[in-house]
Amino acid sequence: MKHTFYFKRTTWACLLCAVLLYACKTHYPVAKENYTLIKTPNSFDRGKNLVYNTCGGCHYNRGVGKFVGNKFDGIPKVMGKVYTANLTNSKEYGIMRLYTDAQLAYLLKTGITRDGHFIPYMVRPTMADDDINDIIVYLRSDDAAVAAGDTSVGKTHLNAIGRAAIHSKKPEPYITPISRPEADNAVANGRYLVDIIGCYHCHSKSITSLNYLHAEQSKGYMQGGEKFKGPDGKKIYASNLTPCKTTGIGYYTREDFRKAVREGQAPNRKLHPPMEQFHHLTDKQTDDIYAYLQTLPRAHHKIKGHAETAQGAGN
Ligand code: HEC
Ligand code: HEC
Repeated sequence: MKHTFYFKRTTWACLLCAVLLYACKTHYPVAKENYTLIKTPNSFDRGKNLVYNTCGGCHYNRGVGKFVGNKFDGIPKVMGKVYTANLTNSKEYGIMRLYTDAQLAYLLKTGITRDGHFIPYMVRPTMADDDINDIIVYLRSDDAAVAAGDTSVGKTHLNAIGRAAIHSKKPEPYITPISRPEADNAVANGRYLVDIIGCYHCHSKSITSLNYLHAEQSKGYMQGGEKFKGPDGKKIYASNLTPCKTTGIGYYTREDFRKAVREGQAPNRKLHPPMEQFHHLTDKQTDDIYAYLQTLPRAHHKIKGHAETAQGAGN
């Protein structure tokens, strides 16, 4: 009797799995375009800046001083373990030797790997083609931080829950050409940086309800509130970055903003991870982001655990 019972349960489980697998596509068409890498006199510097700012938070390993990867804390433990890839030119552990330029460009925009799997952690469908070009130029260079780092930080292993959660998400379209905003348009440039660096991923309502194609349409865009686990296991909530004077950063000066974003020192407290210290943002980049944030509608949204600032009245 017991045996039949288990058998039946297994049958149902198999059927359910089959339906789920059918519903959740796991393999996608891979990169097909031709791709020609162009080295301009500025490519290396711009690429280095972008790789530190847009990939560094997840792939730069401080202990090693190279982009050899890290354990990734962005998913719940019940899904398994994820390690970010080794982006150095290591012949043994590096991912660069396995990727063509076309496959890398495709991965960065869509989230689809060279073998047709979707990884949802780093999709940037709106990144300008020239920026992707420069990122690849830098990653293929012999700069110390991407020169062979023969270290493996660990191997990703997702369990069934993890795989199901990831397969329920969909890749973004490959849109090209996309150009960079004009360098002297501070607001447009700031908006673009918030998009490709991914400030809005953490600083909007929820990481699970982002709109990667139209960042500003994400729920609670830049109004803060997403919950994280801080280094000591305590809950930590992302700040409201709209220019509300009491619950946002409306009372910040441009200098305050540079210090908070690059050194982790806000006017009223020290900032904790997962907020990064973006040491590699230039004055212009930081000021452009600041200029852009000033244009957002003021949202009076008090964040748990953050003091309302005394500066300014109302919002
Ligand atoms: C939010 C964190 C995050 C950011 C930012 C990020 N990555 Fe990743 N990346 C990951 C994770 C996590 C993996 C490993 C996924 C896995 O093993 O399933 C990964 C894997 C990769 C891979 C290997 C894909 C494969 O086939 O296994 C490449 C290449 C890569 N990233 C390049 C980049 C580049 C270039 C940037 C910057 C433009 C970047 N990533 C930004 C988290 C990130
Ligand atoms: C991985 C998530 C994450 C990303 C990405 C991120 N932040 Fe944050 N940020 C946080 C968290 C969490 C806090 C709150 C830290 C604390 O209270 O100690 C914070 C705080 C801040 C503050 C302090 C505001 C205050 O409360 O006074 C500023 C300014 C800020 N972030 C700007 C940015 C900018 C600009 C970017 C993109 C360049 C960015 N953040 C990217 C998570 C993130």
